Amino acid sequence: MKKIIAIFLVAVMPMLAQAAGGAHLDKVDIDMGDKASLHNGARLFMNYCLSCHSAQYMRYNRMAADLEIPEDLVKENLMFASEKIGDTMTIAMSKEDASAWFGTKVPDLSVTARSRGADWLYTYLRTFYTDESRPWGVNNTTFKDVGMPHVLWELEGLKKPVYETHKGEDGQDVKTLSGYEIVMPGTMSADEYDKAVRDLVNFMVYVGEPAKMQRYTIGIWVLLFLAVLLIVAYPMKKEFWKDIH
Ligand code: HEC
Repeated sequence: MKKIIAIFLVAVMPMLAQAAGGAHLDKVDIDMGDKASLHNGARLFMNYCLSCHSAQYMRYNRMAADLEIPEDLVKENLMFASEKIGDTMTIAMSKEDASAWFGTKVPDLSVTARSRGADWLYTYLRTFYTDESRPWGVNNTTFKDVGMPHVLWELEGLKKPVYETHKGEDGQDVKTLSGYEIVMPGTMSADEYDKAVRDLVNFMVYVGEPAKMQRYTIGIWVLLFLAVLLIVAYPMKKEFWKDIH
């Protein structure tokens, strides 16, 4: 009985946690086997995120090897903050400066995909909206009053929230978010932007757990090995049991 309760809790807890968090999260489909997506994600990450955020547990040469990008191409196109291919992905800004400029700590993004989850990241990067009352002129539905500017606004454009009002249980008007309306178009369409953010999150999931990449490849070999083993083992089994049946 205890076991059943434990299994139930494990299954239901994440749902409860999400319900408690309130915000609805969009699902993103992560695929570590999709090299083109990881390459695009790396490009976006280096260009748009690494100026403020570090990824201090990741080395450029490890990324080059895992994602199969030649090291000289990494050096030429993806390294803006460091000189040596063996460096970790740090930034030039000091923690003190960052705190002074942004009024808050700029977190390292090495393991954010694990702490927040891929769906959260995917939703967060797609829910910035214009809000004149905020220092950067934007707010975020997933991370209320966030201290980060909408750094991808040139790609996505700027949008404003659209609310609908309905009567709550107590008869009062309640305002809920029903969608967004573009107020300044970006260089990408909504679909293109979703795809770009998916690539970026795919890359961040890889950064959060590079060993996953190896497990992915090893997994394929293990399955192949088991298949070959089956071919050998099955006739053997037949041979051993022949006299008994
Ligand atoms: C101009 C500097 C700057 C840039 C560029 C930037 N960010 Fe941020 N980011 C911040 C700051 C500051 C915070 C902290 C916000 C807060 O706590 O209110 C933050 C917070 C975050 C968080 C929340 C982390 C957490 O767990 O609380 C995520 C995720 C994030 N950024 C992702 C990104 C990604 C992905 C990019 C690139 C597309 C990016 N950021 C580019 C300044 C920046």
